[in-house]
Amino acid sequence: MKISKKQSVKKLNFNTLKFSGIILFVCLLLTQVNVFSQTKKGEKTCIECHKNTVKKDILHGPTATDCTVCHVSNGAKHPLENVTGFKFLEEGANLCYSCHEETQAEFKKKYIHKPVKKGKCTECHDVHSSNNKNFILEQSPALCFTCHEDFEKAEETAISIHKPSFDGKSCMICHTPHASNQKRLLVENSKQLCLNCHNKTITENDREIANIGKQLDESSHIHKALKKRCTSCHNAHFSNKNKQLLKETYPLGNYAKGLEDNYTLCFNCHDTDLLNLKNTTTATEFRDGDRNLHFLHLNKDKGRTCTNCHDVHSANNTKLIAKTRKFGRWSMPLKFSENENGGTCTGCHKALTYKR
Ligand code: HEC
Ligand code: HEC
Ligand code: HEC
Ligand code: HEC
Ligand code: HEC
Ligand code: HEC
Ligand code: HEC
Ligand code: HEC
Ligand code: HEC
Ligand code: HEC
Ligand code: HEC
Repeated sequence: MKISKKQSVKKLNFNTLKFSGIILFVCLLLTQVNVFSQTKKGEKTCIECHKNTVKKDILHGPTATDCTVCHVSNGAKHPLENVTGFKFLEEGANLCYSCHEETQAEFKKKYIHKPVKKGKCTECHDVHSSNNKNFILEQSPALCFTCHEDFEKAEETAISIHKPSFDGKSCMICHTPHASNQKRLLVENSKQLCLNCHNKTITENDREIANIGKQLDESSHIHKALKKRCTSCHNAHFSNKNKQLLKETYPLGNYAKGLEDNYTLCFNCHDTDLLNLKNTTTATEFRDGDRNLHFLHLNKDKGRTCTNCHDVHSANNTKLIAKTRKFGRWSMPLKFSENENGGTCTGCHKALTYKR
């Protein structure tokens, strides 16, 4: 699996800071307070009064050097009650960009995370010191949950959750926090991202999850719904509607009542006539004369679900007709063949043929 490369700040152009690349630790700093010696004799240094700014393990370069590279005196004596003594050299992100020139260039991508666009770097970064690498306030996913609360709630309440969205580096496996040329701040092409992991069989709690990548590679027919992305049917994070991260209703067993509402997933893109019309010569090709065989198989209290016959991802038969269907422990062969103007199947029944 590919994970976005951490892009480090490269050669920063500092005239005032000579130790680019070095992160000083507090203990080290305290033995070198001479870097804060601009104050007149007898006057306290900034950090003597503002211990909090240097309290954490990793110091931001300029904080370790000179507070006034960012906080510029506005002339007022400091500290005075209710009097502001400083202004920022620059406001918002421009303050950061004044040194992190390459970062600014990097963030100029097609899609920019809203807080980054608004220059709210300090919503995620501590500018002074931090216990986390890159001065982030918290690690992902906790950092992301501070604004994307619904994700945190979902872990408890959703019908299905996608493990990588909540484990380990979670959000950062698939997203960049700043900007991307891919929609939704993805680290790479949406479909490829899924296939980075789903190019092998995954075993989860003794359950085997099929190798979708291999299946696509070995199929002559790919469902057009997944030409561009998997997320036309799956949610990448969690689903409040269905198991298997499906965005809409779809019955996952072999049987279901033949109601549109049970198949919202498919009928988002396909016409419901194939389910509802008992007789038709236009709504579907799966018919014997004008007898709609979709209707025949589906439209009952115990109707046969689509995946009894179709493989929703890809297949080697036309019309995504599956090679086999799981029936409990049995992988039942469908033995579908196309005939002139129709087809034949064995499996649930002896060879039965339809002709349009
Ligand atoms: C006065 C110059 C200066 C300003 C202003 C500044 N930084 Fe930095 N920053 C540095 C230096 C120097 C480093 C250490 C670079 C290195 O290790 O290569 C650094 C490192 C970092 C790092 C650690 C990752 C890295 O590239 O090593 C982050 C994150 C960071 N700064 C964020 C910010 C943010 C956010 C702002 C604005 C609120 C900001 N900086 C403003 C000079 C500055
Ligand atoms: C004698 C103690 C003392 C010293 C020395 C001191 N400060 Fe402060 N500073 C305070 C107090 C008190 C406040 C107001 C309460 C607060 O916000 O923490 C304050 C507030 C601030 C603020 C926020 C309000 C404002 O005025 O903009 C900044 C920024 C600041 N100090 C920066 C600095 C810098 C930079 C230095 C060193 C050049 C410095 N301080 C030196 C005590 C001090
Ligand atoms: C890289 C730029 C930068 C440097 C260097 C820097 N600060 Fe700040 N400081 C900021 C920014 C930006 C904020 C506003 C933080 C926010 O919005 O959360 C701030 C806020 C503050 C505040 C008010 C709020 C708070 O966090 O307590 C104080 C006080 C302060 N700084 C003191 C200092 C002192 C003392 C130093 C040197 C030890 C220092 N700063 C070095 C950028 C800097
Ligand atoms: C939504 C949260 C968030 C916001 C907002 C944000 N950052 Fe970051 N930033 C992160 C995280 C998380 C990382 C760590 C990335 C990693 O580990 O791959 C990071 C890393 C960095 C780094 C070091 C690595 C790199 O990607 O170059 C710099 C520099 C940086 N941020 C600067 C900024 C600046 C400047 C802003 C404001 C324009 C900003 N960030 C806004 C979350 C954020
Ligand atoms: C400071 C608040 C804040 C934090 C922290 C935050 N986000 Fe966001 N995020 C937003 C806002 C605001 C939007 C825009 C929402 C909208 O337009 O409806 C957004 C949108 C997004 C989007 C959709 C972008 C798009 O193009 O539609 C993604 C993906 C995202 N955030 C991921 C993350 C990740 C990953 C993290 C943690 C590293 C994170 N966010 C942390 C505020 C935040
Ligand atoms: C397995 C990859 C993956 C992981 C892990 C992941 N996302 Fe996403 N995320 C996506 C994809 C793909 C989309 C685009 C969905 C689409 O095409 O509609 C997306 C979209 C989003 C959006 C836009 C709105 C939406 O819901 O579609 C937000 C916000 C977001 N992600 C936040 C997060 C947060 C926060 C985390 C961590 C808790 C996270 N993501 C983890 C792949 C991922
Ligand atoms: C970092 C690896 C990784 C990435 C990237 C990834 N997955 Fe997964 N996926 C897993 C793992 C591990 C499981 C098994 C654990 C689970 O069910 O969440 C899984 C399970 C699933 C399941 C079955 C869920 C169930 O309950 O049966 C679906 C569907 C799925 N992923 C779709 C996607 C889609 C769509 C994408 C792209 C947006 C994607 N995955 C990206 C690792 C990944
Ligand atoms: C047309 C809708 C649709 C699209 C698009 C789609 N899926 Fe699925 N996916 C499903 C359905 C429906 C199931 C449940 C299948 C079943 O019960 O046989 C499923 C099941 C899965 C499973 C679980 C398999 C198992 O063995 O439990 C994974 C993993 C998965 N899909 C990954 C993907 C990936 C990766 C993509 C993109 C390459 C993708 N899906 C695109 C509808 C879709
Ligand atoms: C995001 C839209 C979308 C969703 C959701 C969707 N499909 Fe499709 N499906 C398509 C498109 C587009 C085609 C191609 C139609 C064409 O070429 O005329 C297609 C074709 C098919 C075909 C015929 C394949 C062929 O070779 O002509 C079958 C069978 C099929 N879909 C079944 C399903 C089933 C079952 C579901 C629900 C699990 C579903 N589809 C959900 C978009 C979708
Ligand atoms: C009993 C097996 C079976 C079931 C169950 C089934 N189909 Fe089909 N379906 C077929 C066959 C066979 C064809 C191919 C007809 C032809 O072209 O000869 C087909 C064709 C299609 C097509 C291509 C357009 C058309 O109608 O000819 C779509 C779309 C489709 N099915 C969707 C679905 C959906 C959605 C479901 C579930 C709601 C479903 N099918 C359930 C056997 C089935
Ligand atoms: C899940 C089991 C199942 C599968 C798979 C299945 N069928 Fe059927 N099929 C049935 C049942 C049950 C009936 C009888 C329905 C009734 O009469 O109520 C039937 C009836 C038929 C009939 C009508 C026979 C008649 O004249 O009454 C034809 C034709 C047919 N199936 C063709 C197919 C084709 C072609 C496929 C493969 C794409 C297929 N079937 C797959 C269960 C299945």
